[in-house]
Amino acid sequence: IDCEVAGARLLRWYDAHARAMPWRVGPADRAVGVRPDPYHVWLSEVMLQQTTVAAVRDYFRRFLARWPRVEDLAAAEDAAVMGEWAGLGYYARARNLLACARAVVRDHGGQFPKTVEGLRALPGVGPYTAAAVASIAFDAPAVVVDGNVERVCARLFAVQTPLPAAKPELVRLAGLLTPDLRPGDHAQAMMDLGATICTPRNPTCGICPLLGLCAGQAAGAAAELPRKLAK
Ligand code: ADE
Repeated sequence: IDCEVAGARLLRWYDAHARAMPWRVGPADRAVGVRPDPYHVWLSEVMLQQTTVAAVRDYFRRFLARWPRVEDLAAAEDAAVMGEWAGLGYYARARNLLACARAVVRDHGGQFPKTVEGLRALPGVGPYTAAAVASIAFDAPAVVVDGNVERVCARLFAVQTPLPAAKPELVRLAGLLTPDLRPGDHAQAMMDLGATICTPRNPTCGICPLLGLCAGQAAGAAAELPRKLAK
C-alpha cells in the first residue's frame, strides 16, 4: 500500500464528506486552519467512548450549555455533573471527567496540555483519549486507534491475524498511514470512513476513497476482516 497516496485520498474525502458534529469545526473554518476547542474535543471523546455519535450529540450540547468552559465544569457540584451524565452509563467516567476538569484548572491554568504525555497524566485520560485530543485539538502527530481504525487498517492491509493478537500490527499500520500534516483530520477521516463506508458488515467498497488501494477489497475479503478469535 502506498500510505502517502492513501492518506492524501482520505483527507480529500474528509474535506468533502466529514460528518458535521457539534465538537468539530465546519469545512470553511477547517480550510483556514481553525482548530476545535480542546475542551470540546476532550469532552466529546470521553462521551464517545461508551456511546454512539447519535446519542452523544444531545449530551454534549447540554453539557456545553451548562458548563461552557472547562473552568465552569471544574466548579460544578459533583451531583450536578452526575445528573447530566445520567443515561450515558459508566459513572466512573463522569467522576474522572470532573477530576480531570479540576486538574486542568488547578494544575494547568485551564489550558489542556498539548502533548500525549501531558494529557496522559490527567485523571481518566488513557492512551486513546490522549492521542485523540493531542491530534484533533493540537495537530500533534499522535496515532489514534479505535475499533474503526483497526477495521479500516485490517482491510486496507489485508491483515489475516485475528484480533486481539493483531493489535500491535494494526497500531503500527495506523502509524504508517498517519500523515505529518493534519493528523487530527486524518484520525477523524478514519473514524468517519469506518462508520459510514468501511462498516463492520456490508461495507460499500464501491464508493470508498481507498478503492484500488485496499488489499482486502482486492482479495474480495474486506467484509471478513478483521478476523476475530472465536470467543
Ligand atoms: N468517535 C470517537 N471520536 C470521534 C470523532 N472525533 N469523530 C467521529 N467519531 C468519533
